[in-house]
Amino acid sequence: MKTVAIGIIGYGTVGQGVVEVLARNAREIERRSGYQLQVKRVAKRSWQGIDTSALPFACDTDPFAIASDPDIGIVIELAGGEHPAFEIIKTALEHGKHVITANKALIARHGDTLFTLAREKGLELTFEAAVAGGIPVIKVLRESMSGNEVKRVAGIINGTSNYILSEMTQKGRGFADVLKEAQALGYAEADPSFDINGTDAAHKITILASLAFGIPLQFDSVYIEGIDALTPDDIQDAAELGYTIKHLGLAVRRDNGVEIRVHPTLVPQDALIASVNGVMNAVQIQGNAIGNSLYYGPGAGKLPTASAVVADLIDVVRELNLKSEDRLAEFGYSQVLDRNTLPVLPPEDFNSAYYLRLTVADRAGVLADITRILADNGISINSVSQKNRHKHNSYIPLVLLTEKVREAQMDAACAQLAALPAVSGAVKRIRVEHFG
Ligand code: HSE
Repeated sequence: MKTVAIGIIGYGTVGQGVVEVLARNAREIERRSGYQLQVKRVAKRSWQGIDTSALPFACDTDPFAIASDPDIGIVIELAGGEHPAFEIIKTALEHGKHVITANKALIARHGDTLFTLAREKGLELTFEAAVAGGIPVIKVLRESMSGNEVKRVAGIINGTSNYILSEMTQKGRGFADVLKEAQALGYAEADPSFDINGTDAAHKITILASLAFGIPLQFDSVYIEGIDALTPDDIQDAAELGYTIKHLGLAVRRDNGVEIRVHPTLVPQDALIASVNGVMNAVQIQGNAIGNSLYYGPGAGKLPTASAVVADLIDVVRELNLKSEDRLAEFGYSQVLDRNTLPVLPPEDFNSAYYLRLTVADRAGVLADITRILADNGISINSVSQKNRHKHNSYIPLVLLTEKVREAQMDAACAQLAALPAVSGAVKRIRVEHFG
């Protein structure tokens, strides 16, 4: 049987998982790929504290030595971060190696440059592990949905935020306490602010939007809100209205462009995606042929992420003997046709229903003033409730749900509402998404 030599850059949780999966499932992988996959060299910044004599590969500290080694056929980049990961992958491609990466930030921000280089060199650059770890959602969008015009992708794609929101919702726990636990469980990013402020989910939805619509990667155009401004009151009020708050990544096709956004969202409690709790991820894809389909699974972790990396590895090996023009393009769109030119819409053109929470003076005529402002801005009200339990110094929270509205109209209405003498402080607004 023929052998392919593999170099791995990064021997943290996922790197060790890849080595473990390749060893544990070696026979099955050989049967599926027709090749023996041999990990020949692994790079790690420092091997201190690890018994390298027991490892069946050469232990390096210089990733570039592996990326340029003529004996290595495939490089797996698991270093993370943008630099030097970008330079490592570029070096590997320039030296004629296929590359597999789990690096979402790198693909979201520099993917188009690297894919162009890979194509010029007739090589593959694959990234299944970059989004939702153990859920094969890249393959689903690139291959299984290719008979559809994709209308919407909506995902719980950051396990740490989902874990925090689930614990806050189900157990009434505090934000900081739950975050510490998520870090201890190994799900949070090295810099957990990327989980909390929505950056990690934005990297992932950037990639999913390009797969769904065949548009260039446009991380800088993604609208991003994290979970940091949510309060236990928002979670409780949403529950009383029949909704659960989830942090979603959304890519939505409209007639005039696409919305790509990441934010806390009220989701009806009876929607399947509302029951996705803890660190689990889920992605719901709506296509004009399939309707709605939902994919659920672990979004991170040693073996689920390794499972995605090894699946990519087997795909690359299966196509080793194909001419580059016969290989599937990275996003599944023909390389000879222009990419879709649908623009990414600015936030003022988004279209969404809303939850609004205002603190208002409890006196006659206030509700009338509020509904007048909403009506003047063309906003239809779905429900209004007054939270008497929170009355404080004659001020009371008022919670409204609206129908869908263009965001520019909601911006104008919120500015006018905040200027009313009877309204105290800012107007809290959270988008609402329905899953019919
Ligand atoms: N920090 C990420 C998460 C890990 O919480 O989902 C997987 O990308």
